[in-house]
Amino acid sequence: MADKATALITGASSGIGLEMARIHANAGGDLVVVARRRTALEELKAELESKHQVSVMVIEADLTRQEAPSDVHRQVTDAGIGIDYLINNAGFGGHGLFHEREWAQDESMIQLNVMALTELTRLFLPAMVERGRGKVLNVASTAGFIPGPLQAVYYATKAYVLSFSQAIAEELKDAGVTVTALCPGPVDTGFVKAGNLEGVDAFDQAASARTVAEVGYEAMLKGKHIAIDDRRLGFMLNWIVPFLPRKMVLRMSRQSMEKNT
Ligand SMILES: NC(=O)c1ccc[n+]([C@@H]2O[C@H](COP(=O)([O-])OP(=O)(O)OC[C@H]3O[C@@H](n4cnc5c(N)ncnc54)[C@H](OP(=O)(O)O)[C@@H]3O)[C@@H](O)[C@H]2O)c1
Repeated sequence: MADKATALITGASSGIGLEMARIHANAGGDLVVVARRRTALEELKAELESKHQVSVMVIEADLTRQEAPSDVHRQVTDAGIGIDYLINNAGFGGHGLFHEREWAQDESMIQLNVMALTELTRLFLPAMVERGRGKVLNVASTAGFIPGPLQAVYYATKAYVLSFSQAIAEELKDAGVTVTALCPGPVDTGFVKAGNLEGVDAFDQAASARTVAEVGYEAMLKGKHIAIDDRRLGFMLNWIVPFLPRKMVLRMSRQSMEKNT
């Protein structure tokens, strides 16, 4: 199924989602790409269709709008396109003390990182289950493993994605459908600026979007439950952090999000 599968990727206009679109097109698969920046998506469509024998459908959508996931699903269904791989990648973060942050920002974050991801999964899964094949790749984060002072809502949204993805992966284990949660460490993308994270030390040694996209795409093809691109961070989160006192973990987590400027 790897080469002729059709993938829907949210947040394909930049960063990890853009690289996943390139990887999928390079494997010969058609695409539906979703984001707000239509021009960036149209440029991606032109690039991929000229380089590879694939067709790319562009959907401009602001997934923080409540009706957006069902609009996207309807447009895809009306076009007669079946989705083999659903890649829920669109997301953003935000820095600062929770009680001082603009509520509208955190509300949109929850709407995108949690609600849209969940609803799109709910909308596209039944057809996969009916066909007895399909793959869902949800982009969570290493932030999903611990609470995140100074990014409280963002870390909580990613904990949700990690929990939700594993739970439905287990539900679907005999259905021919796999669910993978990609948990990147820091990545050098537009995420840093969009989330006001400039000056946070953790991003000094960020991975490239390409590397992370390759790790996630490969893990999705293999049907892994969880993929972490940063091995050192993965080891810490799985084998050290669970055995540390909670307050110590909170302090360390906060330190990692303090700004150096
Ligand atoms: N970068 C990191 O350090 C890091 C680490 C762990 C996890 N992640 C996760 O990786 C995923 C991808 O982020 P990235 O690092 O590649 O950052 P990015 O370059 O900023 O990409 C984010 C993508 O999401 C889209 N998006 C944002 N708001 C949207 C909205 N309201 N409606 C539809 N699409 C929207 C953006 O497109 P438009 O602006 O065109 O809408 C863009 O294509 C996110 O879920 C993020 O939480 C990132």
